[in-house]
Amino acid sequence: MPPTAPPAADPVPGAAARAYLPHGRHPGPLPQSPGLLPPPNLVHTDCPTVPLPWEPAEGAPDWPAVLGTLLRGLLGRTRANWMYPVDPATGAALPAPPGQGDCRPAPSGGARYPIEAYLAVGAAPGLPAALYHYDSVGHRLSAVRSGDHRQALAPAPGEVPDLVLVLTTVFWRSAVKYREFGYRLQQQETGVLLAQAQTVAESLGATVGMRLRQDDRPVDALLGLDPYRQSVTAVLTLHHPAAPATGPGEAQAAPQAAPTARPVTAPASIARLLPYTAAVHRASLAERADAVQPARPVPAPGAGPAVRLPGADLAGSAALHAGVARRASASNGFLPVPMDRRALAAVLGAAAAGYPGDLAGVAAAPAAVALCCVIRDVTGLAPGCYAYRDGALVPLPVPADAPERIAAGLAAPPTRLDYLEAALTLLPVAALEAGIDGYGDRWYRLAHIEAGLALQRAALAAAALGLSARIRSDASCAATDEALGLPADGLTSLSALHIGTPRPGPVLGFLV
Ligand SMILES: Cc1cc2nc3c(=O)[nH]c(=O)nc-3n(C[C@H](O)[C@H](O)[C@H](O)COP(=O)(O)O)c2cc1C
Repeated sequence: MPPTAPPAADPVPGAAARAYLPHGRHPGPLPQSPGLLPPPNLVHTDCPTVPLPWEPAEGAPDWPAVLGTLLRGLLGRTRANWMYPVDPATGAALPAPPGQGDCRPAPSGGARYPIEAYLAVGAAPGLPAALYHYDSVGHRLSAVRSGDHRQALAPAPGEVPDLVLVLTTVFWRSAVKYREFGYRLQQQETGVLLAQAQTVAESLGATVGMRLRQDDRPVDALLGLDPYRQSVTAVLTLHHPAAPATGPGEAQAAPQAAPTARPVTAPASIARLLPYTAAVHRASLAERADAVQPARPVPAPGAGPAVRLPGADLAGSAALHAGVARRASASNGFLPVPMDRRALAAVLGAAAAGYPGDLAGVAAAPAAVALCCVIRDVTGLAPGCYAYRDGALVPLPVPADAPERIAAGLAAPPTRLDYLEAALTLLPVAALEAGIDGYGDRWYRLAHIEAGLALQRAALAAAALGLSARIRSDASCAATDEALGLPADGLTSLSALHIGTPRPGPVLGFLV
């Protein structure tokens, strides 16, 4: 397969990301050709495979159980769903038979699952040192390149992680449905999966590090990827006591064999199909040398007093892990049940928690996103629009009817109904344009990854408490931002998560 000719480079730093911004705001008209959807997984031929244990690890897991449980908890085919067809414009039931699909533990825009995971490990009994692709259909590892590539994928002096997990995105898999808008979803899904990986890995006794600033070019080359078909979005490093010890010098003595495995179906190239995505991706492959990390965004406070919330007791992975098996997107809206104040504190605390990443200051809190929310029905709290900061809700400087203005601006009836029924809508916001000016094109990607992290942590906290959540990307629109007063602060909402008590209904989901 000849490599794709890259799009022309834009000589003005930040120009490609700025040009992409309107395309990442709203999907265009959706193509109606489900018969042409590419399969939501990669399968390789001409390579050795290693089956993974399916049963979740308990007690002190051995190394294969750690790998099997981590990958099953990230991208495993763990749920079957019967989905009753509705008109996407009105939400009305359609007179058609239900469809059946398999779902994964973490959410994905339109259930397109564009993210594929690769693992680099050292030698262990029954597991030769190699770069593997996780085959979610067979729950097994396909060796795409022999040798120990951990050091090359995650260079750090004197430290070789037990596992390097590379998340990549297959651009066309989402774009076939959402076109240019798919790039935004894929960055958020990277964040979703990083939060999920941290939660699952820490529950297994691992320590985790996240690398969002890596130079993508050598990583793509090592994985044998054409960056305009499929490309790395984040790298995760992991240490676990059950991993086999790597002898001195062993990791450095990596045979750099060329990839031998072949994907059965090569993903389509987006270089010509999606010019804005291709251009922003090209400009984001490596950080600008003079990148300056912008200050955290802080929405301006309104006149009312800040409301301190009870201590958040769900921020840790152990507590969030209870949500992993329970989480599914609310598909039937929400019951009119008020949300408890402690639950609100737990959900917001989890969303705002720091993470083990490589941007400055993120151990304490996300660097690119701040959290705003619309409270409609929380015990003891006045409904309204707030920013969440340091364990307190700070009213936004907006008129009292701002929540109703947001509802009026939501064009799609199912989204409006969800918004009106949810006890809480959580909106990660970022100073996208200022960030792109100071840091470069890659800030777009980093901000959306952080948004995904925050959303998934909130969704897991909600699920752990018996609540449910659903991302509604279209609720994060110009009208919502206007009603929240965000443009005055140079801020943009990146997504919206509705949270509440789910209404039971005819969507059957179960854990295998
Ligand atoms: C980044 C992202 C964006 C999403 N946007 C929407 C959306 O705009 N509307 C919607 O109904 N669901 C949205 N979803 C939810 C997906 O449709 C849902 O995750 C998928 O159907 C799989 O179902 P599950 O979450 O129950 O596993 C989104 C999910 C993600 C991760």
